[in-house]
Formats: sequence, C-alpha cells, structure tokens
Amino acid sequence: MKKLLPFMKKYIKYATLCPILMILEVIADIAIPYLMSRIVDVGIANQDIEYVLKIGLIMVAAALAGMTFGIISSHYGAKAGFGFASEIRFKLFEKIQGFSFANLDKFTVASLITRLTNDCNTLGQVTMMSLRMAVRAPFMMIFALFMALRINASLARVFVVSIPVLVIVLTIILSKARPMFLLMQTKIDRVNAIIRENLTAIRVVKSFNRQNHEEARFKERNDSLRDTALRAISLIVFLMPVLSIVTYSTIVAVLWFGGRQVASGSMETGELISFITYITQILMSLMMMSFFFMQLLRATASVTRIVEVLNTESEIKEDENPIRELPDGSVAFEGVSFRYPGSTEKTLKNINFHINSGEVLGIIGSTGSSKSTLVQLIPRLYDTTEGRVLVGGIDVKRYDIKALRDKVAFVLQKNTLFSGTIRENMKWGNEKASDEEIIHALKLAQAWEFVSKYKDGLDHRVDQGGENFSGGQKQRLTIARALLKSPKIIILDDSTSAVDMATDAKIQRIFKDELKDVTTIIIAQRVSSIQYADRILVMNEGEIEASGKHEDLLLSSPIYREIYESQQRGVGA
Ligand SMILES: Nc1ncnc2c1ncn2[C@@H]1O[C@H](COP(=O)(O)OP(=O)(O)O)[C@@H](O)[C@H]1O
Ligand SMILES: [Mg+2]
Repeated sequence: MKKLLPFMKKYIKYATLCPILMILEVIADIAIPYLMSRIVDVGIANQDIEYVLKIGLIMVAAALAGMTFGIISSHYGAKAGFGFASEIRFKLFEKIQGFSFANLDKFTVASLITRLTNDCNTLGQVTMMSLRMAVRAPFMMIFALFMALRINASLARVFVVSIPVLVIVLTIILSKARPMFLLMQTKIDRVNAIIRENLTAIRVVKSFNRQNHEEARFKERNDSLRDTALRAISLIVFLMPVLSIVTYSTIVAVLWFGGRQVASGSMETGELISFITYITQILMSLMMMSFFFMQLLRATASVTRIVEVLNTESEIKEDENPIRELPDGSVAFEGVSFRYPGSTEKTLKNINFHINSGEVLGIIGSTGSSKSTLVQLIPRLYDTTEGRVLVGGIDVKRYDIKALRDKVAFVLQKNTLFSGTIRENMKWGNEKASDEEIIHALKLAQAWEFVSKYKDGLDHRVDQGGENFSGGQKQRLTIARALLKSPKIIILDDSTSAVDMATDAKIQRIFKDELKDVTTIIIAQRVSSIQYADRILVMNEGEIEASGKHEDLLLSSPIYREIYESQQRGVGA
C-alpha cells in the first residue's frame, strides 16, 4: 500500500476533505436525536411552542447541513478514489509499455488486462469507501456511545451485552466468509482469463471447430464461480437478520428498563427516544465496520497484483549516456549465447558472424532451430546471456533503445495490422510520411499492385488484426510499414512465407538492388528466398551449422543441400 500512496498526491485535497466533511456529517447525525429529545422533554412537556419551533428549526438546519456535508464528502471521496485508481492505471500502462518481451512472457496478456481493469476498479471503489466508512463508522460509534452514556449511564449497560454478542457473531460469519471471498476473486480471474483467451483467438477456435470443447471449459469455470459466490453469499445473508435481532432485542431491553425509569420519573420520555436512536446508530456502525473490513480484504488481493507489476523492472536497462546515432547498419555477433528467462537450456549457443552495412543476410533452418530468437537480440527485444551483439560496431546495450529500434525495422513472424485505414497503418512506421512516400514503400514491398486496385486506395479499411487481408497481402503491408521507418537494418522473420514465389522473388530483388544501404536480414523457409544473399547462416538446434554463399553451402553443408534438394524436388514434381 505504501508503494501506491504517492499516486494519491494529485487528489490529496479531496482525500483529506472527504473524511473531515464526513466527521461534520456525523456530528449533525448525532445532534439530531439529542435535539429531538429536547423538543419532547422541554418544549412539549412545558407546552412551549416557541421552544419547539426554535429547536425544530435548528434540527432542520442540522439535517440540511449534515446532508450537504454528506453529499460533498461523497463527491470528494469518489474523486479521490477514482482519481487514485486512474493514476495507478496510467502508471501500469506506462510500465507495461516499457516491458521487455521477457516481462510479457512472465505475466501473460490476459492477466495484465485483468490487473489494469478489474484490480484498478476495485482499488478505486474500496478507496472511496475507506475514505468514508473507515471514518464514519468509528466516529459515529464513539459519539453515539458518548451521548448514550451522558443521557443515562445505567441504561447504557445494555451495550455490555449487545455489543459483544454482535461482535462475536460478525467475527464468526466474516471469518468463515473471508476465504470464500478470496477464492471467489481467483475464480473470477479464471473466468476472465478464459474469456480473454477465447475472444482474442475466436477465429482459431472456430476454424478448429473447438467451440464445444471451449464451451465445456468455460462452463466448468463459470459454474465453479457461481457455486463459490453462492456459498459466500449464503453466509452473508445472515448478517442483516442477526443485526436486526440484536438491535430489536436491545431496543426491547431499553424500553423495558428505561420505561420503568420514565415511570418512576428518573428519566424523561424524550431521552428514552433519543437513546433508542443512538442504539441503532451504534449497532449500524459496527455493521459498517465489518463490511469495510470485507472490502479491504478484496482490495488487498488487488493491491498485491498491482504492486507486483509496478515492482517489475524491465529486463532491458538503458545505458546512462546512451548513443543516439547508429554509425552504419553492420551487424556482428561475438560469442553470443542466450537462454530464455525461466528456461534451463540454452536456446542459442556460441553464435559468431559479421555482416557489412547494406549486405543481405539469409537465415535458414528447421522450425525451432532458434532463428527468431537470434534476430530478436539485434533490436534488444531480449538481452544476450553471454557475449555481445554489435550494431554499427557498437554494443547494442550502449544505444538509446528508442534510437536503436527506430533504425532496426523488425517484421515479426506474427506481425499484425491495426484497425483503421491502410494510410494510418503505414504511419505507424513514420508519422510524417506523405502519400507519395507511402505509395513508394508499398511499391517496394509489392503491395501497391493490390492496394492500387481499391477504389478508396490508401483509405481502404483495415479490420482489427488485418483480418480482411490474405496472409500474403498482410505480409507485404507489414514490410511496407517497416520500410517507412527508413531503417538502417531491416529484419524479415519469415515475412514472405505466404507470398507467391514470383512476388517473393521481386521483393528479394528490391532488397538487393534498390535498398543498397539497408542491411537486410531474411529468415526464410524457402532456399529461393535467400539464394542471392551475400551470406547465409544455416541454423541447427541453436547453433550455426554452416555459413557462406549459396554455391559454397551446396558443397559444404549437408543440411543446406538436403533442404535445397527437397525443395527442388517439390518444384519439379
Ligand atoms: N518466449 C519464449 N520463451 C521460452 N522459450 C521460447 C520462447 N520463444 C521461443 N522459445 C523456444 O526457443 C526455441 C527456438 O525458437 P525460435 O527461435 O522461435 O525458433 P525458429 O524461429 O527457428 O522456429 C524453441 O525451442 C522455442 O520453444
Ligand atoms: Mg521463427
């Protein structure tokens, strides 16, 4: 909680005023029964109309003041609570933007979404309630108890019985409900997780015809949440009746003993009436406190989950005096090994190679041979475990991360487009790109041939994830987007796999002949995609099995020859 307090700074005014106003409201609430008793005992007893009117007016004024304070206090409480939550939400969002891939692997997207939405909302609500209830309940209780004792100390002895009874019953119920509420929270998470996972992958689910399986999985979690919620609620339903029984029994006892005192003349009627009001106020505050503790319980789970994210340091640390300019687009790996966080095996083992600025590097190898892992080290999506990665002759760790990533364009294997227009998507690469520049990039990526056919051209709509394009079209659009960054290095991770051979060949030629200053790294399944590269790495189980030009590799690398021949056979058949 201490970690979160600074986020209240902006709202500190409201967070202080809310409880202060709350206390004023409580004072008004406490004064009203007292004023009432004066009206009954003095005004009515003496038939003094003027006194009744005078005190009556004060009573109305107190009620109005109490109401006003109450309304403003609630308003301030809401401002502080939800303001606090929104500050934290923003900070979380910012934090996540700075997360490395390794951080994201650890938390999973679904759980991050729950933390940003549910947990922040809970925290906001509970903060709002705490500011009000945590102040109102104890003050109300103390004031009311004080007044009751002042009116009639001997009658106040009923509390010796009723308060402990209520406290014991509340404690029993709440201690039984507590684990169930915590369990409910985890079950809500489980339901949320499956909803998120499914909705983001709904097309996959449908295409694999897994709806029934997924429905069953959902039903199991959903039912289990319902059962826990029902069990928790079935305990909570006892709270109200218990409170009523204790309150009414206490009132009956007070009427019984107090009635006698009134009859014998040692207590006034009005005093008895106000005494009963104080009883209700005291027992209500106890109830309120117990509810408050329950809310607090809910919040602690959320706080833990929020703080966990805030405490996570990005695995990628920036140099204190970072370099902001890349001298050129050369790339070198020196004795690089890499292990994924949490994994025991090395995914990359002792990688060494060098390419000059502007050259084309091809990488080939079976799936799982760590091709993607290797290239992710260049824009520092992950850091090496051993050895160094050099770009422009300088260790990547020395660069300003933003500057580095601006100059290293990465077309990820699973790249997506965003909902909007083609133009908007292209501007992700470069906000200031003109239509001419965009069209030029689209032409280079061989995407203009289909974009130019749309009546609305660059204004053509892109659905979420680019679902309204074919795989090959999407790949060409993402390549164009990367080119708009005018990078020094461009990495294509299997980015032309869905493009037909002829178009693929055109793209390869563009990279070799037109983009002479751009270092190009192409990961491909097809030998034809990298055949003309200045250098080819053949990857096998995290190691470079062989490297060289196409013709050399055909002679020196059995794996390469095998891949090549199998693909030739494919073409011939
Ligand atoms: N985020 C990750 N966390 C842990 N292991 C991973 C992660 N990504 C990939 N791997 C593992 O690293 C190995 C190499 O994967 P990858 O580099 O994607 O291979 P390729 O791109 O050659 O198909 C695989 O065994 C894969 O399971
Ligand atoms: Mg891959």
